[in-house]
Amino acid sequence: MEMLALSAQVCIEPQCGACFELNERLYTCSRCGGLLDIARTGDSLDNAQNLARIWEARRTSSELRDRSGVWRFRELLPFAEDPPIVTLEEGNTPLHDAQRCASYCGLDSLKLKHQGCNPTGSFKDTGMTAAVTQALILGARTVVCASTGNTAASLAAYAARARLRCAILIPKGQVSHAKVAQSLDYGARVLEIEGNFDDCLGLVRQLGEEESVYLVNSINPFRIEGQKTVAVELMEQLHWQVPDHVVVPGGNLGNSTALGKGFSELLDLGLIGRLPRLSVIQAANAAPFARIFENVDLTEFAAGLIPNDLLQPILHPQTLASAIKIGVPISWKKALRAVIQSGGQVITVTENEIADAKAIIGRDGIGCEPASATTVAGIKRLVATGHINPSASVVAVLTGHVLKDTDYAIQYHRDNLFIPNRDGGVNKETRRINATYSNAPRRVKADRKTILAELDR
Ligand code: F0G
Repeated sequence: MEMLALSAQVCIEPQCGACFELNERLYTCSRCGGLLDIARTGDSLDNAQNLARIWEARRTSSELRDRSGVWRFRELLPFAEDPPIVTLEEGNTPLHDAQRCASYCGLDSLKLKHQGCNPTGSFKDTGMTAAVTQALILGARTVVCASTGNTAASLAAYAARARLRCAILIPKGQVSHAKVAQSLDYGARVLEIEGNFDDCLGLVRQLGEEESVYLVNSINPFRIEGQKTVAVELMEQLHWQVPDHVVVPGGNLGNSTALGKGFSELLDLGLIGRLPRLSVIQAANAAPFARIFENVDLTEFAAGLIPNDLLQPILHPQTLASAIKIGVPISWKKALRAVIQSGGQVITVTENEIADAKAIIGRDGIGCEPASATTVAGIKRLVATGHINPSASVVAVLTGHVLKDTDYAIQYHRDNLFIPNRDGGVNKETRRINATYSNAPRRVKADRKTILAELDR
């Protein structure tokens, strides 16, 4: 008999704390507008060591829900027994040792947890399997999201599996071709909006008020539940030895929220004895979250109440890492709590640092999309400033696959990548990325001798 968690949706605002049933179709607290968290209300998970053994044993099971690296940990998920699971066998992603990256950062060793190895090529799949399953449970007919591309591709795929209608709103001209191509192929209705991601998110929040429509951006607490399982999977891969640091990119801040929640739950269960320091890295011109850390004494917020105006929106965020080009991150309060509780940092890195770090991740034979490379760029900075010890155990979470943005990679290696101005245009004279690790293709004569000579260069 499997143990199942009894859970509820709970408002995160300490002065409210309203509680709602799991099957209420809500995205924010209907009393105060605060974000919702899913919290366990029963205490049926007392034998945690036993759970760890059950999860491990499922790795050799052929049952579909065991083959998913999310549903394998279903005791931690807020679903009744035998939900109508919508899965593409997400999760179970590799944890690579990355020696070149380690040396680049000034570390003895560095591990990369590659969430880009999920079915649609990004970490979004681990949350989407839970959110789309919940959509079926609620009887939704249409699922929607706003996206910089990956959430869209993921939702499009899971909606297709569930035979749900899917609409995605993306900022016109600001999403990589590969991500748009995926969404089209998976049959989503792709709506290109004149505006940026934050405008798209505002619009889908309005659509989410329709009875038949279900919104699956990371404001949706079921997305976070699915995504938190990566913390469990990671700890299992590390044989439950807690790393000193876990580092993630920050955009809308769902991922950092989810990892923080995952580690916290493992701590509550007694499966780990301390929290890894969770640090978030943003692109310098799309960094509203990092600004909070630069300007505010955070010790006073550790207790809970976080004022709404602490986050100053950035109206025109700019970065070539288009996945994290976000000025008003929806989950900032939850992420802030997770970072403060774990003693982590939030810092920014420049476009050039992101681009070079991405090339180094590639040279380890691993590769990722630009947003993911903020992690290695950020770790290099945190080592240089003494926040990370060279001998520390560090895990960077790579969020998207290298093939998600091939235009960026090709332009970098051709030494032809330009940083956008504040208005989105480019000024070619001053803003070229200095591609330290460029590896441009060469045109050679179709002749054996010339080619051999080229190899010796
Ligand atoms: N990395 C990648 C590759 C992403 O696609 C995203 C977010 C992030 C990092 C940031 O994660 O939002 O949880 O802090 N992409 C969203 C999207 C916004 O629409 O695909 P976050």
